[in-house]
Amino acid sequence: MNSLRIIGGRRLVGRVKAPGAKNSCLKLLALASMASDTCTLTNVPDITDVHSMCDLLESLGARITAKPGGAIQIDPTAITSAEPPEEIVRRMRASVQILGPLLARHGYVRMAFPGGCAIGSRPIDLHLKGLSAMGVRFSEEHGCITGRVAHRLTGAEIHLDFPSVGATENLMAAACLAKGVTTIRNAAREPEIVDQQNFLVRMGAQIRGAGTDTIRVTGVDGLSSTTYPVMPDRIQAGTFMLAAAATQGDVTVTDVVPEHVDALTAKLIEVGAAVIVSEDSVRVAMADRPNATTAKSMPYPGFPTDLQAPFVALLTTGKGTSIVTENVFNSRFRYVDELVRMGAQIGVDGRTAVIRGVPRLTGARLVAPDLRGGAALVIAALMADGESVVDGFEHVARGYDDLEGRLASLGASVQREDGPGAAVPD
Ligand code: UD1
Repeated sequence: MNSLRIIGGRRLVGRVKAPGAKNSCLKLLALASMASDTCTLTNVPDITDVHSMCDLLESLGARITAKPGGAIQIDPTAITSAEPPEEIVRRMRASVQILGPLLARHGYVRMAFPGGCAIGSRPIDLHLKGLSAMGVRFSEEHGCITGRVAHRLTGAEIHLDFPSVGATENLMAAACLAKGVTTIRNAAREPEIVDQQNFLVRMGAQIRGAGTDTIRVTGVDGLSSTTYPVMPDRIQAGTFMLAAAATQGDVTVTDVVPEHVDALTAKLIEVGAAVIVSEDSVRVAMADRPNATTAKSMPYPGFPTDLQAPFVALLTTGKGTSIVTENVFNSRFRYVDELVRMGAQIGVDGRTAVIRGVPRLTGARLVAPDLRGGAALVIAALMADGESVVDGFEHVARGYDDLEGRLASLGASVQREDGPGAAVPD
């Protein structure tokens, strides 16, 4: 168990760089397995989920080389296996993103269902339905799924019931090497999907439409190698923006695409922050407790579900009652009990949290229930009076690159304490 010890009540002030995006990098790593030769990714975040995806690729036969300055080379030429081991698959939900690439490359895959349901049920039916339409025959037994393609994947017309990020990405990947044209309707529009398109196009894929709700892919016979920078992480950037507001600080987050955090920027202005947006940075300054507000998480460009918990942490000291609704996942309020232990007044009814603002939180010993819930507890601890310890910090380290170092550089009093490590599910 790893912990973060935080002495709260310090204003965060300064500049901090947003690292590369976890939710893009994991997929780009998986996609690199489809190339004919070595791909290089730059701006790779140093987080445990990236290490796990590298482990997964290595278990299949890929050669991974970490280069100085956050670059990773992926040589897929020796990949012979299409059966990632259960122990690695179950470490993170994003393991499922190898499904499309392996089916495209080998016409076969066998893997365990990805582990963990810490933020509600996370089925993969949309991935499987879309891939089935492209000619994959799936069978399931003993918690494992096997997929087989008779000859080659074939392009298909796919309408997603919900704009699932992961399903859109898996289907785009598979479609790149399928015969003919694939159209994905009601596709997710997240910026990470545009990043995936840009990467694949550099590799020679024919895709257009990423960022809209209709994506068209014309299959090609092979994908070549390329070098590509991972896009900035809008969720880590947003977390620093929220931490700035929560501590009544003044922080400039650099190396971001400001448009990617528009929904959060609008909410921060609503609650009373001053937000100055420039070409590739966002400055957030706050001088008072936040105003109360309402927010609903939605697929992009709506308010991101991954910032729902950190935003609730900010609203715990709001001037009035706020209402936050979670529309993407069905159980993403597990962190709330911990905030209540700090003096927050929050009631949860189904998908809705009602937050009655209190003047201040008090430090406590806390347990991070999952990645983003853990980030919310860190923000709460930064604003609270006295000392807090966030146990289960390994959840947070899955998706935040040197969070403690970055917070310390802004003036926070934080100290990481690492115990014997344990793998944690998504
Ligand atoms: C990705 C992100 C995650 C983010 C989420 C929504 C990664 C590694 N993770 O997760 O951080 O919170 O997008 O922005 O990129 N669903 C189904 N069937 C499916 C697939 C999804 O019912 O086959 C449901 C899920 O249960 C959930 C909703 O669709 O309720 C959204 O899931 P999805 O967009 O697929 O999220 P992920 O790709 O898992």
